[in-house]
Amino acid sequence: MQNRSAALQAFVDAAETAFRERARGDESQRSVRCGFSALREPTDKPTSVPASEGCRLPVCDEHLDQVIDPAHFPDGDLAALAETFRALEPALSWSKRKGTTPAASDTFDQGHANTLIIGPGGLERRTDVWLGVSLLAPDVRYPDHTHPPEETYLCMSRGEFTHGGSDWFEPGPGGSFYNSPGIMHAMRSGAEPLLAFWLLLAE
Ligand SMILES: [Fe+2]
Repeated sequence: MQNRSAALQAFVDAAETAFRERARGDESQRSVRCGFSALREPTDKPTSVPASEGCRLPVCDEHLDQVIDPAHFPDGDLAALAETFRALEPALSWSKRKGTTPAASDTFDQGHANTLIIGPGGLERRTDVWLGVSLLAPDVRYPDHTHPPEETYLCMSRGEFTHGGSDWFEPGPGGSFYNSPGIMHAMRSGAEPLLAFWLLLAE
């Protein structure tokens, strides 16, 4: 396995604690358990050299510090997740979503950023488990999208979600929900920025 920095390991540990505590339902709990147990196993998947320095998009400079401030989280597991993510963030490369943007708001292009901490193109490059995060500025509607891997979200802010044609629902900070493989889903922010981690089990 690639050597993990202390900062990345601390983040993975904090993410495991929060996801395992907060995942709801058998499928989500199984997916989270499998994902984090895979992250303990060595992988012989081909890797490339990670970028040594991250890059932010303007939306990150505008909203990230506010939404990731550990002082905003009364619950210890979320505060630890925010703190370890904040320590890691300067090494991360943020980018815009590629591909089509059905149902997205006009504010979407300039108002969002995604980064993969673990996964293809992430800080730790592997294909079996992807752990990433999305940031939306206020009043941004993310496009409807699908992907084959199942996914568990862990929300760090307010903001609404829809999946499988459901009404919009708001998990709130610390809220978690599960997307089955291939399900159509989307998110949207209200008056505040939205930040949500997602764990995908790809293999
Ligand atoms: Fe997704």
